[in-house]
Amino acid sequence: MELGAVLPMTAEVKGGHLYIGGVDMVALAKSQGTALYVFDEAHLKHRMHEYLSAFRELYPNSDVIYASKSFLNKEVVRLVNAQGLCLDVSGGGELACALSVGFPAERVFVHGNNKTPLELREAMQAGVGRIVVDSFDELDRVSVIAGELGITQDILMRITPGVEADTHEYIRTGCEDSKFGFTMKDSFALQAIGRALKTENVNLAGLHCHIGSQIFKLDPFAEAANVMVQLMDDVRKEYGVTLGELDLGGGLGIAYLADDEPASVEEFAKMLTSAVKDACSKFSFPEPRLLVEPGRSITANAGVTLYTVGTIKDLPGIRKFVAIDGGMSDNIRTALYHADYEPVIANKADQPRTEIVTLCGKHCESGDAVVLDMPLQSAEVGDVACVFGTGAYNQTMASNYNGQPRPAVVFVEDGNARVVTRRETYEDLYRRDV
Ligand code: LLP
Repeated sequence: MELGAVLPMTAEVKGGHLYIGGVDMVALAKSQGTALYVFDEAHLKHRMHEYLSAFRELYPNSDVIYASKSFLNKEVVRLVNAQGLCLDVSGGGELACALSVGFPAERVFVHGNNKTPLELREAMQAGVGRIVVDSFDELDRVSVIAGELGITQDILMRITPGVEADTHEYIRTGCEDSKFGFTMKDSFALQAIGRALKTENVNLAGLHCHIGSQIFKLDPFAEAANVMVQLMDDVRKEYGVTLGELDLGGGLGIAYLADDEPASVEEFAKMLTSAVKDACSKFSFPEPRLLVEPGRSITANAGVTLYTVGTIKDLPGIRKFVAIDGGMSDNIRTALYHADYEPVIANKADQPRTEIVTLCGKHCESGDAVVLDMPLQSAEVGDVACVFGTGAYNQTMASNYNGQPRPAVVFVEDGNARVVTRRETYEDLYRRDV
């Protein structure tokens, strides 16, 4: 398997079978059923540790905030906590999951462009570390709720730095035409910050930006860092306030295809920390606490999805469809973004991938596919197909379309497999109905 950075760290082929974490994926598919999300626990821990140590080494006053929207369950929150990372939540349910396993609320950062009053109240009552304020309406809401609770809430303000990242338009967020944050245009952000500084019951701890996701070229990150430090300097000049925190969001790209060459975490850390340091010395601004919020670059390559091949249709001159027992319900990214993935047949992992096929799903839509026109070993009914790089934004974006129960999540490490989220049952699907 020449799949390089696409693979989970412990992937290997033994006796023709794909193994991850020392566990035979073919046997695991048989014992747990498919579709199945499998995570290489060593890979997850390694990436979390790698991020924190890379940043702390170059910039001691930094923290890594895991973006839970990429992959979330109780066990991953426990890992994040054990590895010493902070946590980004973007909805009440994500916060509830974190709190349910005792994640320290003061290390939680709350995101979202339209957090509901209830979500804000729950977050503040729990004592979250930072609320990342996205609009004037929200600033007012946070102020009122904090007043009612008798607290002063630490906030960051989300700024749109006007930086274009080279990625899919749906996941580009730093440009002017964005629903997120306060725009830099016409000094709007500066004025908004002035208003926040005067707002009661909140303490403006710093600024936040997030330019997008799955970004390969690092320059826009440096550009954003520069813009943000300059803005902090403007704030100091205009209001005499020196903000102490700068959160530069997530977005580092990963390898979905064998020949993708994303930057390493180390390169990312080097680029970001030196951009911040350079900008700070340019403006003689004291180096702030630096925050980053990676999601995909921690989880994507740690996870794979296993499926069983059910039907095969060879349409001569058109395409070969290999249908699997999942699809857009467990991986919406292909239908939504035309995402690319590398597949293998886990029980033929030592064989060459000689056919070009589309791994289509079982749902009632023509656009329902997980892998579009990629090489695969000659597939037969009953084979176990493994799709790599599915650890981010698959489980968290899953649905029950066509009454499909969502897959179980299994962590594998040192030859052991443990179910950390059980498979949904039909009963789960209709439990809320009256
Ligand atoms: N911080 C903020 C404020 C974000 O909005 C996001 C992602 C992240 C951090 C984490 O970014 P990452 O390191 O994972 O790139 N569903 C899309 C991705 C949407 C990203 C949303 N925000 C996909 O499947 O590609």
